[in-house]
Amino acid sequence: MAQLFTPFQLKNITLKNRIGIPPMCQYSADQDGLANAWHQQHYAELARGGAGLVVVEATAVSPEGRISPNCLGLWNDEQANELKRIAQSIKANGSVPGIQIAHAGRKASANRPWDGDDHLAEGDPRGWDTIAPSAVAFGANLPKTPKEMTRADIERVTQDFVAAAQRALDAGFEWLELHFAHGYLAQSFFNRDANQRTDEYGGDKEGRSKFILDTFKAVRAIWPQELPLTARFGVLEYDNHDEETLQESIWLAQQLKDNGLDLLSVSVGFSTPDVKIPWGPSMLANVAERVRRETGLPVSSAWGFDQPQDAERAVVEGQLDQVLIGRAYLANPRYTYQLAKALEEEQASSVLPAPYAYWLARY
Ligand code: FNR
Repeated sequence: MAQLFTPFQLKNITLKNRIGIPPMCQYSADQDGLANAWHQQHYAELARGGAGLVVVEATAVSPEGRISPNCLGLWNDEQANELKRIAQSIKANGSVPGIQIAHAGRKASANRPWDGDDHLAEGDPRGWDTIAPSAVAFGANLPKTPKEMTRADIERVTQDFVAAAQRALDAGFEWLELHFAHGYLAQSFFNRDANQRTDEYGGDKEGRSKFILDTFKAVRAIWPQELPLTARFGVLEYDNHDEETLQESIWLAQQLKDNGLDLLSVSVGFSTPDVKIPWGPSMLANVAERVRRETGLPVSSAWGFDQPQDAERAVVEGQLDQVLIGRAYLANPRYTYQLAKALEEEQASSVLPAPYAYWLARY
Protein backbone atom coordinates (compact mmCIF):
# COMPACT_ATOMS: atom_id res chain seq x y z
CA MET A 1 0.00 0.00 0.00
CA ALA A 2 1.26 3.46 -0.84
CA GLN A 3 2.11 5.51 2.23
CA LEU A 4 -0.18 8.23 0.85
CA PHE A 5 -3.11 5.91 1.54
CA THR A 6 -2.26 5.10 5.14
CA PRO A 7 -4.47 6.64 7.85
CA PHE A 8 -3.35 9.72 9.73
CA GLN A 9 -4.50 10.29 13.28
CA LEU A 10 -4.40 13.71 14.88
CA LYS A 11 -5.96 13.96 18.33
CA ASN A 12 -9.25 12.01 18.19
CA ILE A 13 -9.64 12.42 14.45
CA THR A 14 -8.49 9.69 12.10
CA LEU A 15 -8.16 10.70 8.46
CA LYS A 16 -8.50 7.78 6.07
CA ASN A 17 -5.44 8.85 4.06
CA ARG A 18 -2.70 11.48 3.91
CA ILE A 19 -4.38 13.61 1.28
CA GLY A 20 -5.93 16.92 2.28
CA ILE A 21 -7.69 19.39 0.04
CA PRO A 22 -6.45 22.80 1.19
CA PRO A 23 -8.70 25.84 1.55
CA MET A 24 -9.49 27.40 -1.83
CA CYS A 25 -11.59 30.57 -1.94
CA GLN A 26 -14.48 30.33 -4.34
CA TYR A 27 -15.25 34.09 -4.34
CA SER A 28 -18.82 32.99 -4.96
CA ALA A 29 -20.91 34.24 -2.05
CA ASP A 30 -23.64 36.49 -3.43
CA GLN A 31 -23.79 38.75 -0.42
CA ASP A 32 -23.14 39.03 3.29
CA GLY A 33 -20.58 36.22 3.38
CA LEU A 34 -23.26 33.55 3.01
CA ALA A 35 -22.54 30.13 1.50
CA ASN A 36 -24.94 29.19 -1.27
CA ALA A 37 -25.71 26.34 -3.68
CA TRP A 38 -22.32 26.73 -5.36
CA HIS A 39 -20.49 26.02 -2.10
CA GLN A 40 -22.83 23.21 -1.08
CA GLN A 41 -22.21 21.33 -4.30
CA HIS A 42 -18.51 22.15 -4.53
CA TYR A 43 -17.68 20.79 -1.07
CA ALA A 44 -19.93 17.73 -1.39
CA GLU A 45 -18.16 16.82 -4.62
CA LEU A 46 -14.72 17.29 -3.11
CA ALA A 47 -15.71 15.10 -0.15
CA ARG A 48 -16.98 12.36 -2.47
CA GLY A 49 -13.64 12.44 -4.21
CA GLY A 50 -11.86 10.44 -1.52
CA ALA A 51 -9.43 12.82 0.21
CA GLY A 52 -9.14 12.29 3.96
CA LEU A 53 -9.63 15.98 4.74
CA VAL A 54 -11.53 18.77 3.02
CA VAL A 55 -10.83 22.24 4.37
CA VAL A 56 -13.42 24.90 3.57
CA GLU A 57 -11.94 28.06 2.06
CA ALA A 58 -10.72 31.13 3.96
CA THR A 59 -13.81 32.26 5.87
CA ALA A 60 -13.66 35.74 7.31
CA VAL A 61 -14.02 36.35 11.05
CA SER A 62 -15.46 39.83 10.43
CA PRO A 63 -16.85 41.79 7.47
CA GLU A 64 -13.65 43.80 6.98
CA GLY A 65 -11.63 40.55 7.09
CA ARG A 66 -12.97 39.32 3.73
CA ILE A 67 -10.65 39.40 0.75
CA SER A 68 -13.51 40.32 -1.61
CA PRO A 69 -17.21 41.13 -1.21
CA ASN A 70 -17.85 37.56 -2.42
CA CYS A 71 -15.89 35.77 0.31
CA LEU A 72 -17.49 33.61 2.98
CA GLY A 73 -17.90 34.86 6.53
CA LEU A 74 -18.51 33.35 9.93
CA TRP A 75 -19.42 36.32 12.08
CA ASN A 76 -23.13 35.56 12.46
CA ASP A 77 -25.47 32.65 13.03
CA GLU A 78 -27.05 32.78 9.59
CA GLN A 79 -23.63 32.17 8.03
CA ALA A 80 -22.97 29.39 10.55
CA ASN A 81 -26.23 27.67 9.59
CA GLU A 82 -25.23 27.47 5.93
CA LEU A 83 -21.77 26.24 6.85
CA LYS A 84 -23.31 23.62 9.12
CA ARG A 85 -24.94 22.05 6.08
CA ILE A 86 -21.56 21.99 4.35
CA ALA A 87 -19.83 20.38 7.35
CA GLN A 88 -22.56 17.73 7.50
CA SER A 89 -22.31 17.04 3.81
CA ILE A 90 -18.51 16.71 3.84
CA LYS A 91 -18.85 14.22 6.68
CA ALA A 92 -21.73 12.31 5.09
CA ASN A 93 -19.67 11.98 1.92
CA GLY A 94 -16.80 10.34 3.77
CA SER A 95 -14.28 13.06 4.56
CA VAL A 96 -13.38 15.03 7.68
CA PRO A 97 -14.78 18.57 7.57
CA GLY A 98 -12.24 21.31 8.21
CA ILE A 99 -12.48 25.06 7.88
CA GLN A 100 -9.97 27.88 7.65
CA ILE A 101 -10.85 31.10 9.48
CA ALA A 102 -9.18 34.25 8.30
CA HIS A 103 -8.71 38.00 8.31
CA ALA A 104 -7.35 39.51 5.11
CA GLY A 105 -5.83 42.66 6.69
CA ARG A 106 -4.41 45.04 4.10
CA LYS A 107 -5.22 42.67 1.23
CA ALA A 108 -8.95 43.01 1.94
CA SER A 109 -11.55 44.95 -0.05
CA ALA A 110 -10.40 43.52 -3.36
CA ASN A 111 -11.95 42.46 -6.62
CA ARG A 112 -12.24 38.78 -7.36
CA PRO A 113 -9.11 37.39 -9.06
CA TRP A 114 -10.91 37.08 -12.38
CA ASP A 115 -12.29 40.63 -12.05
CA GLY A 116 -8.85 42.19 -11.74
CA ASP A 117 -7.38 40.88 -8.47
CA ASP A 118 -6.82 44.48 -7.39
CA HIS A 119 -8.29 46.67 -4.67
CA LEU A 120 -11.85 47.84 -5.24
CA ALA A 121 -11.75 51.37 -6.60
CA GLU A 122 -12.01 54.27 -4.17
CA GLY A 123 -15.71 55.10 -3.84
CA ASP A 124 -16.92 51.65 -4.92
CA PRO A 125 -19.92 51.10 -2.62
CA ARG A 126 -18.89 47.45 -2.14
CA GLY A 127 -15.52 48.44 -0.65
CA TRP A 128 -14.45 49.13 2.93
CA ASP A 129 -11.57 50.56 4.96
CA THR A 130 -8.81 48.04 5.60
CA ILE A 131 -6.77 47.53 8.77
CA ALA A 132 -3.25 46.23 9.35
CA PRO A 133 -0.46 46.39 11.93
CA SER A 134 0.90 49.54 10.27
CA ALA A 135 -0.37 52.05 7.73
CA VAL A 136 1.75 50.51 4.98
CA ALA A 137 0.22 49.38 1.71
CA PHE A 138 1.06 46.01 0.13
CA GLY A 139 1.73 47.76 -3.19
CA ALA A 140 1.52 46.53 -6.79
CA ASN A 141 -2.09 45.48 -7.48
CA LEU A 142 -3.09 46.22 -3.86
CA PRO A 143 -2.10 49.87 -3.31
CA LYS A 144 -4.69 50.86 -0.71
CA THR A 145 -3.16 52.12 2.53
CA PRO A 146 -4.66 50.39 5.58
CA LYS A 147 -5.41 52.02 8.91
CA GLU A 148 -2.94 51.17 11.67
CA MET A 149 -4.72 49.01 14.21
CA THR A 150 -5.23 50.33 17.71
CA ARG A 151 -4.93 48.00 20.69
CA ALA A 152 -8.71 47.88 20.78
CA ASP A 153 -8.74 46.78 17.12
CA ILE A 154 -6.20 44.06 17.88
CA GLU A 155 -8.17 42.74 20.84
CA ARG A 156 -11.40 42.84 18.84
CA VAL A 157 -9.93 40.84 15.94
CA THR A 158 -8.60 38.23 18.37
CA GLN A 159 -12.09 37.94 19.84
CA ASP A 160 -13.52 37.71 16.31
CA PHE A 161 -11.27 34.68 15.72
CA VAL A 162 -12.52 33.13 18.97
CA ALA A 163 -16.17 33.75 18.09
CA ALA A 164 -15.71 32.33 14.58
CA ALA A 165 -13.92 29.27 16.00
CA GLN A 166 -16.82 28.67 18.38
CA ARG A 167 -19.31 28.95 15.51
CA ALA A 168 -17.21 26.56 13.41
CA LEU A 169 -17.25 24.06 16.26
CA ASP A 170 -21.00 24.42 16.79
CA ALA A 171 -21.49 23.97 13.03
CA GLY A 172 -19.80 20.56 13.19
CA PHE A 173 -16.32 21.23 11.85
CA GLU A 174 -13.80 18.80 13.33
CA TRP A 175 -10.58 20.41 12.12
CA LEU A 176 -9.83 24.11 12.46
CA GLU A 177 -7.15 25.97 10.54
CA LEU A 178 -6.17 29.50 11.54
CA HIS A 179 -5.05 31.48 8.51
CA PHE A 180 -1.81 33.05 9.62
CA ALA A 181 -0.33 32.97 6.10
CA HIS A 182 -0.23 34.55 2.65
CA GLY A 183 0.26 38.21 3.58
CA TYR A 184 -3.09 38.51 5.29
CA LEU A 185 -3.48 40.11 8.70
CA ALA A 186 -1.60 37.64 10.92
CA GLN A 187 1.26 37.11 8.47
CA SER A 188 1.65 40.87 8.13
CA PHE A 189 2.10 41.22 11.90
CA PHE A 190 5.05 38.82 11.58
CA ASN A 191 6.55 40.46 8.51
CA ARG A 192 9.14 43.21 9.06
CA ASP A 193 8.07 45.30 6.08
CA ALA A 194 4.37 45.22 6.87
CA ASN A 195 4.78 45.62 10.64
CA GLN A 196 6.59 48.81 11.59
CA ARG A 197 5.03 49.14 15.03
CA THR A 198 7.05 50.38 17.95
CA ASP A 199 4.76 48.98 20.67
CA GLU A 200 4.80 45.41 22.00
CA TYR A 201 3.20 44.13 18.77
CA GLY A 202 6.22 45.04 16.65
CA GLY A 203 10.01 45.05 16.68
CA ASP A 204 11.78 41.77 17.43
CA LYS A 205 10.39 38.33 16.66
CA GLU A 206 8.63 38.17 20.02
CA GLY A 207 6.79 41.42 19.30
CA ARG A 208 5.94 40.52 15.72
CA SER A 209 4.61 37.15 16.93
CA LYS A 210 2.45 38.53 19.74
CA PHE A 211 -0.77 38.92 17.77
CA ILE A 212 -0.42 35.40 16.35
CA LEU A 213 0.37 33.79 19.70
CA ASP A 214 -2.31 35.69 21.62
CA THR A 215 -4.93 34.81 19.00
CA PHE A 216 -3.83 31.20 18.92
CA LYS A 217 -4.00 30.86 22.71
CA ALA A 218 -7.43 32.50 22.85
CA VAL A 219 -8.79 30.06 20.25
CA ARG A 220 -7.11 27.08 21.88
CA ALA A 221 -8.91 27.94 25.11
CA ILE A 222 -12.30 27.28 23.49
CA TRP A 223 -11.44 24.69 20.83
CA PRO A 224 -11.75 21.15 22.28
CA GLN A 225 -8.49 19.48 23.22
CA GLU A 226 -9.49 16.30 21.40
CA LEU A 227 -9.96 18.04 18.02
CA PRO A 228 -7.11 19.22 15.78
CA LEU A 229 -6.27 22.90 15.95
CA THR A 230 -3.94 23.78 13.10
CA ALA A 231 -2.50 26.89 11.49
CA ARG A 232 -1.27 27.86 8.06
CA PHE A 233 1.80 30.04 8.09
CA GLY A 234 4.25 31.35 5.52
CA VAL A 235 7.63 30.34 6.92
CA LEU A 236 9.62 32.23 4.29
CA GLU A 237 9.10 34.89 1.65
CA TYR A 238 11.72 34.22 -1.05
CA ASP A 239 12.90 37.81 -0.49
CA ASN A 240 16.63 37.14 0.11
CA HIS A 241 16.16 36.99 3.90
CA ASP A 242 15.00 33.41 3.90
CA GLU A 243 17.36 31.84 6.42
CA GLU A 244 16.61 34.53 9.00
CA THR A 245 12.86 34.37 8.35
CA LEU A 246 12.88 30.60 8.49
CA GLN A 247 14.70 30.59 11.82
CA GLU A 248 12.21 33.06 13.27
CA SER A 249 9.32 31.05 11.82
CA ILE A 250 10.62 27.86 13.38
CA TRP A 251 10.86 29.66 16.71
CA LEU A 252 7.24 30.80 16.32
CA ALA A 253 6.12 27.32 15.31
CA GLN A 254 7.76 25.98 18.48
CA GLN A 255 5.89 28.56 20.59
CA LEU A 256 2.63 27.57 18.91
CA LYS A 257 3.38 23.92 19.54
CA ASP A 258 4.12 24.59 23.20
CA ASN A 259 0.70 26.26 23.41
CA GLY A 260 -1.17 23.37 21.81
CA LEU A 261 -0.81 23.62 18.01
CA ASP A 262 -1.47 20.18 16.51
CA LEU A 263 -0.17 20.66 12.95
CA LEU A 264 1.41 23.41 10.87
CA SER A 265 0.49 23.86 7.23
CA VAL A 266 3.80 25.14 5.88
CA SER A 267 3.41 27.79 3.22
CA VAL A 268 4.89 30.95 1.71
CA GLY A 269 4.49 34.42 3.26
CA PHE A 270 3.34 36.35 0.18
CA SER A 271 3.81 39.48 2.32
CA THR A 272 5.35 41.73 -0.32
CA PRO A 273 5.01 41.82 -4.09
CA ASP A 274 8.73 41.94 -4.96
CA VAL A 275 9.74 38.32 -4.50
CA LYS A 276 11.00 35.54 -6.75
CA ILE A 277 9.13 32.38 -5.93
CA PRO A 278 10.72 29.22 -7.33
CA TRP A 279 7.46 27.65 -8.51
CA GLY A 280 7.88 23.98 -9.28
CA PRO A 281 7.10 20.45 -8.17
CA SER A 282 7.43 19.80 -4.42
CA MET A 283 8.63 23.38 -3.99
CA LEU A 284 8.37 23.38 -0.19
CA ALA A 285 9.35 19.77 0.52
CA ASN A 286 12.74 20.51 2.09
CA VAL A 287 11.48 23.56 3.96
CA ALA A 288 8.56 21.62 5.44
CA GLU A 289 10.86 18.75 6.35
CA ARG A 290 13.10 21.15 8.25
CA VAL A 291 10.16 22.68 10.15
CA ARG A 292 8.96 19.18 11.00
CA ARG A 293 12.40 18.01 12.15
CA GLU A 294 13.30 21.09 14.18
CA THR A 295 9.93 21.51 15.90
CA GLY A 296 8.65 17.95 16.09
CA LEU A 297 5.29 19.23 14.79
CA PRO A 298 3.28 17.27 12.26
CA VAL A 299 3.28 19.27 9.01
CA SER A 300 1.37 19.52 5.77
CA SER A 301 2.14 21.53 2.69
CA ALA A 302 0.78 22.39 -0.73
CA TRP A 303 2.13 23.97 -3.94
CA GLY A 304 3.06 21.36 -6.49
CA PHE A 305 2.60 18.06 -4.67
CA ASP A 306 -0.11 16.88 -7.06
CA GLN A 307 1.91 14.41 -9.12
CA PRO A 308 1.46 10.91 -7.66
CA GLN A 309 5.15 10.12 -7.18
CA ASP A 310 5.84 13.54 -5.65
CA ALA A 311 2.97 13.17 -3.18
CA GLU A 312 4.04 9.65 -2.22
CA ARG A 313 7.71 10.61 -1.88
CA ALA A 314 6.88 13.49 0.49
CA VAL A 315 5.26 11.03 2.91
CA VAL A 316 7.77 8.20 2.45
CA GLU A 317 10.75 10.50 2.99
CA GLY A 318 9.20 12.08 6.08
CA GLN A 319 8.88 15.55 4.61
CA LEU A 320 5.13 15.78 5.16
CA ASP A 321 2.61 14.05 7.39
CA GLN A 322 -0.17 15.19 5.08
CA VAL A 323 -0.01 16.22 1.43
CA LEU A 324 -2.25 19.09 0.35
CA ILE A 325 -3.46 19.03 -3.24
CA GLY A 326 -5.56 21.91 -4.51
CA ARG A 327 -5.90 22.72 -8.19
CA ALA A 328 -5.78 19.10 -9.35
CA TYR A 329 -9.05 18.63 -7.41
CA LEU A 330 -10.59 21.67 -9.09
CA ALA A 331 -9.83 20.01 -12.42
CA ASN A 332 -11.04 16.62 -11.24
CA PRO A 333 -12.88 16.24 -7.91
CA ARG A 334 -12.24 12.47 -8.05
CA TYR A 335 -8.49 13.01 -8.33
CA THR A 336 -7.85 10.58 -5.45
CA TYR A 337 -8.81 7.76 -7.81
CA GLN A 338 -6.16 8.90 -10.32
CA LEU A 339 -3.58 8.96 -7.52
CA ALA A 340 -4.57 5.49 -6.35
CA LYS A 341 -4.33 4.08 -9.86
CA ALA A 342 -0.98 5.73 -10.56
CA LEU A 343 0.42 4.41 -7.26
CA GLU A 344 -0.93 0.95 -8.16
CA GLU A 345 -3.19 0.59 -5.16
CA GLU A 346 -5.00 -2.70 -5.03
CA GLN A 347 -8.68 -1.88 -5.57
CA ALA A 348 -7.93 1.72 -6.52
CA SER A 349 -11.62 2.41 -6.98
CA SER A 350 -12.27 1.77 -3.28
CA VAL A 351 -11.07 5.31 -2.54
CA LEU A 352 -14.42 6.45 -3.95
CA PRO A 353 -17.91 5.84 -2.52
CA ALA A 354 -19.63 2.57 -3.47
CA PRO A 355 -22.00 4.03 -6.09
CA TYR A 356 -18.91 4.96 -8.11
CA ALA A 357 -16.39 2.39 -6.88
CA TYR A 358 -18.50 -0.68 -7.59
CA TRP A 359 -18.78 0.09 -11.29
CA LEU A 360 -15.20 1.15 -11.74
CA ALA A 361 -14.06 -2.19 -10.32
CA ARG A 362 -16.65 -4.36 -12.01
CA TYR A 363 -15.88 -4.50 -15.72
C1 FNR B 1 -5.99 29.07 -3.03
N1 FNR B 1 -5.16 29.03 -1.91
C2 FNR B 1 -5.65 29.38 -0.68
N2 FNR B 1 -4.88 29.25 0.44
C3 FNR B 1 -5.41 29.47 1.66
O1 FNR B 1 -4.70 29.31 2.66
N3 FNR B 1 -6.70 29.87 1.80
C4 FNR B 1 -7.51 30.05 0.73
O2 FNR B 1 -8.70 30.34 0.89
C5 FNR B 1 -6.96 29.86 -0.55
N4 FNR B 1 -7.70 30.10 -1.68
C6 FNR B 1 -7.28 29.64 -2.90
C7 FNR B 1 -8.15 29.65 -4.00
C8 FNR B 1 -7.78 29.08 -5.19
C9 FNR B 1 -8.73 29.05 -6.33
C10 FNR B 1 -6.49 28.51 -5.33
C11 FNR B 1 -6.05 27.87 -6.62
C12 FNR B 1 -5.61 28.55 -4.27
C13 FNR B 1 -3.90 28.27 -2.00
C14 FNR B 1 -4.20 26.76 -1.95
O3 FNR B 1 -4.65 26.38 -0.67
C15 FNR B 1 -2.96 25.90 -2.33
O4 FNR B 1 -1.91 26.23 -1.47
C16 FNR B 1 -2.53 26.13 -3.75
O5 FNR B 1 -3.59 25.87 -4.64
C17 FNR B 1 -1.32 25.29 -4.13
O6 FNR B 1 -1.61 23.91 -4.15
P1 FNR B 1 -1.73 23.17 -5.57
O7 FNR B 1 -2.88 23.78 -6.26
O8 FNR B 1 -0.41 23.37 -6.28
O9 FNR B 1 -1.98 21.72 -5.24
